[in-house]
Amino acid sequence: MSDLKVCYNILSQVYKQQAYGSISLTSKLGEAKNRDFVTRLVYGVLRNDVKYDYYIAQMTAKKPQNSAVILLKIGMYCVEGMDSMPDYAAVNNTVELAKEVGKQGSTGFINGVLKAFCRKRPSMPTDATQRLSVEASVPLWIVRQYIRQYGFDATSGFLTATPLELEHARVNIRKTTVAEVKKRLQESGVGFVEDGEFEDCLFVRNGQQVRPLFDAGLITFQSLTSVRCCRIAGVKDGDEVLDMCAAPGGKSVFFAGVGDNVRVISCDVYHHRLQLIQQYARRMGVKPDVRLMDATQFNKAFVRSFDVVLCDVPCSGLGVAAKKPDIYLFKDKDCVFGLTQTQSRILENASAYVRDGGTLVYSTCTLLKDENEDRIKKFLKEHRDYKLEEQHTYLPDDKGCDGFFVAKMKRSVV
Ligand SMILES: C[S@@+](CC[C@H](N)C(=O)[O-])C[C@H]1O[C@@H](n2cnc3c(N)ncnc32)[C@H](O)[C@@H]1O
Repeated sequence: MSDLKVCYNILSQVYKQQAYGSISLTSKLGEAKNRDFVTRLVYGVLRNDVKYDYYIAQMTAKKPQNSAVILLKIGMYCVEGMDSMPDYAAVNNTVELAKEVGKQGSTGFINGVLKAFCRKRPSMPTDATQRLSVEASVPLWIVRQYIRQYGFDATSGFLTATPLELEHARVNIRKTTVAEVKKRLQESGVGFVEDGEFEDCLFVRNGQQVRPLFDAGLITFQSLTSVRCCRIAGVKDGDEVLDMCAAPGGKSVFFAGVGDNVRVISCDVYHHRLQLIQQYARRMGVKPDVRLMDATQFNKAFVRSFDVVLCDVPCSGLGVAAKKPDIYLFKDKDCVFGLTQTQSRILENASAYVRDGGTLVYSTCTLLKDENEDRIKKFLKEHRDYKLEEQHTYLPDDKGCDGFFVAKMKRSVV
C-alpha cells in the first residue's frame, strides 16, 4: 500500500465516519513507510480543509462525491505543502492514488482539476470576513462570531498566528529540579526555551530524546494555559479538591502534586478515560482518587465538601484548533448550544459541592462567548452566594499560548 493510500484511509475515516484525526492517524501510522510524510500530509489537509473546500467549489461546476473531494484535497496539499514533490508528480501521484482506491472513474476529473490548480489558484473572496475565513481556513460562522467578540484585527491576528513548534513542559519538582532537567536536556542536545512565566516550566522540542524524562515522570507536557488555570485555582496543601471532568488528568495531577496532604477526587464520565488519569498520576508519582461520575447528575454525597471545585467542562475546543485542526469539522451552532446546556448543568452541580468560603473554577479551551462569559454571567445572576474573583480569555498566539477561558469564583461564608 502506498503512503498516499494510508493518508486517504485516515482522511476517509475522519471525513466519512467523523473519527478524530489524531486517533485515526495513530491507529494507521504503523502501515506507513514514511510516518513523517503521512502525519504531515494528513494534518496539512485538515488544516486547510475550509480553504480547499473553497477552491474546489470555485473550480468545479457541482460538488464532487466525498471520495473525489478527499482525493482533490490530498492533491492540493501535495502541490502546496510538499516542497519535495514537484507539481507534475503531485498530480500524477494523486491520479495513481485514485486508481489504487478504486476510483478509476474519477481520474480524468482529478487530473483536470489539479492541473488547473497548478496553473492558477482561484482568486480569494473580496469580502474581508470571507477572505479571512478562507485564508485562515476557519468556518465562516466561527470567524463572524469571533469578529463580533474580538474585532477584526484581533481575530485576524490570532487566526493567522503560527503556533510555536516547541511544546510546553512542566518539571515534576516532586521528583527532580528544574536545573537537573535543563542539564539533561542540554546533554541530549535537546533545544528548550525558558517559559518566562513559570519557573518550573520550559518550552521543549519534543522528540525521542525527551522520552526518558517523560517516561520517568520528571517532566510532563501540560499546556501553558492549563498551568495558568491550575495556578489561578490556588489549591493549597491540605485542601480537598474535586475535579469534575478530569481526564486525561493534567489538572488533577497538578493539584495532587501541590503537597502531601492535598486530597483530589478526579471524575470523568468515560471509564476508558479514567485509565488515562491513573497512568498519568502513576507516572508523576501522585495518587488522586479516580472515580466514574457523570458531572451532569447531582451527587448528594459531595454537597459543601470541597475547598476547590474545578469544572474543566466539555466544550467545542476551538481554542486548540491550531493543534487539532479537525476540531472545526462537523461543528455548528446547534452543537454549541447543546454544549452550553451541559456546561451549565455541570457548573450548577459543582457550585453545590463547594464549602462556604471555597473556590469554584470554570474553564474551557474554546473562545466562544456562549460557552464562556455567558455561562458565568448566567451563573452569577442565579447564585448570589458566589462572587467573581477573576476571569481571563487567552487568545492563541505564536508564543505557546492556546485559546483558553478561566473564571474563578468564591463562595461567600454564611
Ligand atoms: C476538557 S477535558 C478535561 C481535561 C482535563 N481537565 C485535564 O486537564 O487533563 C473534558 C473532559 O470531560 C469529560 N466529560 C464529558 N462529559 C462529562 C460528564 N457529563 N461528566 C464528567 N466528565 C465529562 C470528557 O470525557 C473529558 O475527559
